[in-house]
This record gives sequence, structure tokens and C-alpha cells, in this order.
Amino acid sequence: MAHVARVYDYWLGGKDNFAADRAAGDQAIAAYPDIVHSVRANRAFLARAVGYLATEAGIRQFLDIGTGIPTANNTHEVAQEAAPSSRVVYVDNDPIVLTHARALLASKPEGATSYIDADLRDTGQILGQSSALLDFSQPVAIMLMAILQHLDDEDHPYDVVAELLAALPPGSYLALTHPASDIAAEEMRLMAKRLNQLMAEKVTFRNHDEVARFFDGLDLVEPGMVRVQEWRPRTLAEANSAAALWCGVARKAS
Ligand SMILES: C[S@@+](CC[C@H](N)C(=O)[O-])C[C@H]1O[C@@H](n2cnc3c(N)ncnc32)[C@H](O)[C@@H]1O
Repeated sequence: MAHVARVYDYWLGGKDNFAADRAAGDQAIAAYPDIVHSVRANRAFLARAVGYLATEAGIRQFLDIGTGIPTANNTHEVAQEAAPSSRVVYVDNDPIVLTHARALLASKPEGATSYIDADLRDTGQILGQSSALLDFSQPVAIMLMAILQHLDDEDHPYDVVAELLAALPPGSYLALTHPASDIAAEEMRLMAKRLNQLMAEKVTFRNHDEVARFFDGLDLVEPGMVRVQEWRPRTLAEANSAAALWCGVARKAS
């Protein structure tokens, strides 16, 4: 059976994947060839969003849930490049990511990182364990990059996000990306169908309004909720990339 962390690694050109992951990844590419550009655009957005949070927004604490196998521009690397004292807690529920945790724990001495083996749906465990490193009386950025599609409606994804946000003080942020069901809709529908046959973690892609609901009650920073390639691109190549993901960065005002 394929696993999303390794399929995603395969799409990104990594080496931490097996034949079943590559077979599922290839089936997805056949359905939606731009998935390869989509995952790169997702990573590029992650780097821009963390850069924004660590500089313009002045955030020094990050809770990155659904970390994935380490690759270029991991959250702590981008955050500590801008602000060396940044503290980052990583969370994933796939044991393969846990085996790579050492790479995630290579913090600059001025800052700190830690890794929690937990499920996004267990918000109590995530908040409880991350409080060993994060001070929840100070602003925190919660990052949910390409993970919420693994919660179907019966997992109550909106409640999960609300529970996480409720633990944060005003001035905190939510940054997320989510595969779209209403961009390249037919290709994405076929890709989801194939992945749901071949991958352990099932996917539910969502449309613009369904993703926008995750930001209810928060203030979206400019340019609002857009396609990942449209969020403050730094180069023409980033701006022109194909990608079928919605994204946004939003601030908790009160
Ligand atoms: C598509 S990858 C995204 C990786 C990274 N966030 C990024 O955007 O580059 C999704 C990651 O979420 C993790 N994941 C999926 N469902 C999860 C859950 N319920 N709890 C914790 N992690 C989960 C997977 O193991 C995988 O590493």
C-alpha cells in the first residue's frame, strides 16, 4: 500500500519512497500531469508564507502539522534564516516521517525544534505535548500544509481547526494549503479516485468555499485566499506555475 508522505516525496523528486508509492504517484500523474508542478508550488508557498510570518508578522513560534519527509526549505530552516530564535514543533502521524526526525531537529542554537508523533485529529495530544516547547501565551503560527484533505467530513475538520485556534492568543496565525476540487476539476476528481484506491490515507479535495470556511473568524492577509501560485510570488516562474491548491494566511484578531 502506498503512503502519502512517500508518494509526495516521489513527486518532489526525493529518494524516500518504495515501488507502491511510485506506482500510485504515476497513476496520479497520468490523471493530473500538473501534480508535479502543484507539489513544488505548494513547497514554494510554504517557504514564502513562513518567510512572511517570521519577518513581517514577527512570529517566533510555529506548529507545523503534517510535516512530511524533510526536503528543501523545511519550516525551521526558513523561519530561523529570518529569525534564528524561532521555535518549531513538527507533527506527523506516519512512522516514516518519525525516522527522519533528526533532520528536523537540526535547529540553530538560538532557537529550538521538536517532533511529535501524533494525529491531527488528536488536538489534545498535539497541544499538550507542544506546550513543552511553545509558549501559548505568545503568538503561534499553525501550519496545515496539504494535510486537511486527509480528514473527511466525518473527521469534523472544521472543529479540529477551531480547537487548535482556540488554544492560541490574539496575534496568532493560521497558514494552510488544500488541494482544490474546483481547479482542473475533472483531472483532480480522477486523481483523487486513483489515490483513494492505492493509498492508505484517503483524500477529500474541497472547493473554494469549503476551504474558505477554515478561515472563518480570522483576518486573511493580502492577497486573501487564492491559488498557491498567486500568493505573493517572488519570481515569474512561481507566478506562472500550474497548481490546483487553495491557500491562505490569516491572523487571529481576538
Ligand atoms: C501531502 S504531505 C504534505 C507535507 C508538507 N506539509 C508539505 O506541504 O510539503 C501530507 C503529510 O501529512 C501527514 N498526515 C496525513 N494525515 C495525517 C493526520 N491525520 N495526522 C498527522 N499527519 C497526517 C502525512 O503523513 C504526510 O506527511
